[in-house]
Amino acid sequence: MSHWLISGGSVLNGSVPVQGSKNAALPILAATLLIEEPIELKNVPVIRDTENMLRILRSLGCTVKREGDALIVDSRTANNCVLPTALSGELRSSIFLLGSVLSRFGAADAPYPGGCEIGNRPIDLHLKGLRALNAKITEEGGRIRCAGGSLQGATVDLGYPSVGATENIMLAACRAAGTTTIRNAACEPEIVDLERFLCACGFCVHGAGTPAVVIEGVLKGHGVSYRVMPDRIVTGTYLLSGAITGGDVTVTGAQPETVEPLLFKLSECGCLVTRQTDSVRIRAPKRPRAIGFTETRPYPGFPTDLQPQLFALLSVADGTSVLTENVFESRFRHAQELKKMGAENRILDRTAIITGVERLHGACVTAHDLRGGAALALAGLQAEGETRILHAERIERGYERMDSVIAALGGLITRKEESIGE
Ligand code: EPZ
Repeated sequence: MSHWLISGGSVLNGSVPVQGSKNAALPILAATLLIEEPIELKNVPVIRDTENMLRILRSLGCTVKREGDALIVDSRTANNCVLPTALSGELRSSIFLLGSVLSRFGAADAPYPGGCEIGNRPIDLHLKGLRALNAKITEEGGRIRCAGGSLQGATVDLGYPSVGATENIMLAACRAAGTTTIRNAACEPEIVDLERFLCACGFCVHGAGTPAVVIEGVLKGHGVSYRVMPDRIVTGTYLLSGAITGGDVTVTGAQPETVEPLLFKLSECGCLVTRQTDSVRIRAPKRPRAIGFTETRPYPGFPTDLQPQLFALLSVADGTSVLTENVFESRFRHAQELKKMGAENRILDRTAIITGVERLHGACVTAHDLRGGAALALAGLQAEGETRILHAERIERGYERMDSVIAALGGLITRKEESIGE
């Protein structure tokens, strides 16, 4: 377990490169099981979630090694279709392995996935999709057991454009007999990156980024060297660190078009936003303006993974803002923690009424989940005095060395690794 100490009051200025995308790397790592040749992956972030995924791949028999900043995953030695309980219980994305393990071995056995406690997070759409591809699935004793021999292509209508279900079905369909069409598919950029990776490996996938994804099954894929896309949520988080401290921050190696919903909101707050091909710069006013109404929606709507960080910004804005969370049922746990730092907000079911204060103050707060924790780190940078964030390991699940990145912008985060009884 770790906690962070944040000294507030610095105005963040400067330019920082963005890490590779967690939410693109995880399904791509799961997809390596579909290819019985070595795969070289670049720009995979070194964070707790990808490390856990690599541990799971190793437990299935894959060989994983690092060569410089590249990762070599070789699944030729994979020989096990039973996912480890503890590791999978820590990682929501372990569920993606159901599709690729089933496709590779004709059977799969997995516990229910873990991950951030931000809502009920059922997997009914994942199982509906795999069943449509002819998988025989039983659920008992906390385990999901799939058998299916050869998977058959099918048309799958998703009741909700779930990111995970879309990716899981894409993986299962790659080596299935015939054609699979996913309708009402999620359109997130990470799904486009997964399609790019699968096509580079010789699979036949098209339509990612639109509500209709089509996969023509092929017998096998081939090895490849692939660079994972930059992380749009991390890009947004560092831009917001500049906005909340009234600074001037540039994020390089980014894809500005994938963070447009946030850039629009930052302009509304009074930030000057400059887009280049692969970088974004924001110059923030001393105090941000409040924003009338924001709601989270599946891509290209405002991302739920930036809602807590925007919430922190609006907590110091001049005026009252309204923020509705449409994607997850309970993703406002940071609201109570921000109140410990002097913020003023009221939660009415899935809507927050946020009345900005001039300045927050340091306090001892808890990161209940990854993005909520990142929001508390931003608030701590704006606050007077020192903030202690408990369970900061939850932030390290998705941010690679956030302390050094913030230091490069002139802020101060100190990591403390220790076992604390909570
Ligand atoms: C992915 O989670 C991301 N995780 C999440 O990021 C992100 O918040 C989410 O997509 C939405 O953008 C990864 O990519 C690893 P969903 P996922 O399936 O796949 C309901 C972060 O901070 N649903 O699109 O779990 C579900 O309950 C994480 O990086 C069903 O009802 O999201 C939720 O309300 C947090 N049945 C909604 O859909 C299902 O079978 C969206 O879930 C599946 C989902």
